[in-house]
Amino acid sequence: MNFTKQDILDCDRIKRLNIINSISGIKPGNLIGSISDKGTTNLAIISSVVHLSSNPPLIGFIMRPRGEVKRDTYNNIRENHLFTINHIPTSHIEQAHYTSAKFDTEISEFDRCGFTPEYIEGFKAPFVKESKIKMGLKLVEEIPIPSSKTTMIIGEIQQLVLPDNAMNETGYINLEQAGTAGIAGLNSYYKLQFLDSFPYARVEDVPTF
Ligand SMILES: Cc1cc2nc3c(=O)[nH]c(=O)nc-3n(C[C@H](O)[C@H](O)[C@H](O)COP(=O)(O)O)c2cc1C
Repeated sequence: MNFTKQDILDCDRIKRLNIINSISGIKPGNLIGSISDKGTTNLAIISSVVHLSSNPPLIGFIMRPRGEVKRDTYNNIRENHLFTINHIPTSHIEQAHYTSAKFDTEISEFDRCGFTPEYIEGFKAPFVKESKIKMGLKLVEEIPIPSSKTTMIIGEIQQLVLPDNAMNETGYINLEQAGTAGIAGLNSYYKLQFLDSFPYARVEDVPTF
């Protein structure tokens, strides 16, 4: 099968959306936790989280076009500059999926989708109790991407929470052991299987293949 750009554009909207959303491969499964100034919590599934820098520790995600659609996550982050990123546990993929429904602003996806808010003292945004790996971030930058009418939201990690046994002494985090889910497209969820790890790739150490 071979698609030209024109073939892609000729697809109906849903098929095109599914193709382009899946084609980049497995994406990390995360829930963004936030809270409004009025105190209503919000949870939204997001598959576009990416790490940007370790010093300072910066993580970004892509916020889809806002326009006429209301975006509680975006509004909450703008209000108090805080949000959390919580790995989706494979045990909760269905609940996580349904956080994408367009609930009214005053309805919390925590309540409606069966997640428990959890707080760290001094950090206003809610974490997801059911997630084993989670971080609390402070908004540092918003970058509009005109070509896609999206916005990259960049946060600096203020808190990182994970089980004692999930990380080894060199900082490697075993995502299979943590039960973190992966996402393909807009509705397919995967569990992760650790295959192997390799040392830093120096030219002189590259094996002969
Ligand atoms: C699998 C999946 C991945 C998603 N990834 C993103 C994403 O990366 N960025 C985004 O803006 N919306 C994404 N969404 C859509 C949001 O979850 C959805 O718009 C949500 O309702 C936003 O909630 P809010 O209005 O409470 O902020 C995704 C939805 C699904 C089902």
